[in-house]
Amino acid sequence: MIKINVNTMPKYDVLIGKNLLENTANFIKEVGLTGKVLVITDKTVDKLYSKVVIDNLQANGFDVFKYVIKGGEKSKSGKDYLKILEFLAKNQFTRSDFLIALGGGVVGDLTGFVASTYLRGIPFVQIPTTILAFADSSVGGKTAINLKAGKNLAGAFYQPKLVICDVSTAKTLPKEEYANGMAEVIKYGMLFDKDFIKSLLNENDLESAIAKSVEWKKKVVESDEKDNAERQLLNFGHTLGHAIEKESGFKISHGSAVAIGMRIITQKAVNKGLCDMNCLGLLDALLTKYNLPTKTDIKIEKLVNTTLIDKKRKGDYITIVMPKELGVCKLEKMPIEEWKDFILKDEN
Ligand SMILES: NC(=O)c1ccc[n+]([C@@H]2O[C@H](COP(=O)([O-])OP(=O)(O)OC[C@H]3O[C@@H](n4cnc5c(N)ncnc54)[C@H](O)[C@@H]3O)[C@@H](O)[C@H]2O)c1
Repeated sequence: MIKINVNTMPKYDVLIGKNLLENTANFIKEVGLTGKVLVITDKTVDKLYSKVVIDNLQANGFDVFKYVIKGGEKSKSGKDYLKILEFLAKNQFTRSDFLIALGGGVVGDLTGFVASTYLRGIPFVQIPTTILAFADSSVGGKTAINLKAGKNLAGAFYQPKLVICDVSTAKTLPKEEYANGMAEVIKYGMLFDKDFIKSLLNENDLESAIAKSVEWKKKVVESDEKDNAERQLLNFGHTLGHAIEKESGFKISHGSAVAIGMRIITQKAVNKGLCDMNCLGLLDALLTKYNLPTKTDIKIEKLVNTTLIDKKRKGDYITIVMPKELGVCKLEKMPIEEWKDFILKDEN
């Protein structure tokens, strides 16, 4: 098992290994949590992994309650959020009790937001079960629900007490969900680590790929916990990616959209002599290896226009994560017109 300490306020450990679920109670006791716990999960994960977690908690003296959401992005809603708060109040949960998020990023974001606000904050533990949640959403303390006007518009920065990444749970993931998460893993390599990105092409050790991703996320989060500066690097491929998701009517998944987004911006940067050619070759090879797309039929003009209503736009500027060489990207604040030219000029 690999243990990574995230030194935020407060600090916590991320445990990464195989078959960790059957030891959940021990790990949780080690961080000083006892008493009553609500395990929040979704329908799919409930069938697969609730029993092993709950049996182990009960055998170790925890008083366990369970709450199952339907799952999917629609469950990250105000309605589900309030229902869980009411459930906690009805069952007299106090500040000395805690929550467990057992599932992917949807369960994690929703549970974290409940934890951050119930009684003005109770502890919670993340037990991620998707690649995206291992490598990205379970670490860093961003919690959120969606509003009608858009994704993640209500939320809080609220760190978990502990993260338990049991990578064995990845074996039941549908192929597309596996690929989706790998887009984020590839992103860390492109952003920060030449050796790691190269290793992803030849090695298939999920545990070490997740550990590397978490190491990088930890570094970024520690230096910019509240997302004011360096943490924005994690948006590599996401400005175009969000536009692709939106313009496809959310038929193209987040991971696929980010993959295409990374590919477009890297190609443009290479074409303009701003980025080393190797980046594009390796990115293409990795996207192919991990069953991710490299292009979309959606018109590029449409995508650029959609990026202009992105959260990352501030006034007449937009901040773009620009690839430079393998393992190196930079934040660039661009005037809107320059951004449009950057993407569209060699299309004419
Ligand atoms: N907080 C953050 O920093 C952060 C970062 C990135 C993304 N996110 C959020 O994460 C969410 C996406 O997370 P996700 O991709 O994990 O999606 P998800 O939670 O919807 O999970 C994807 C699907 O996989 C199923 N599933 C989960 N684990 C499984 C397993 N082990 N075996 C079989 N099926 C399993 C789920 O039931 C679901 O149907 C989005 O809401 C996004 O906004 C948050």
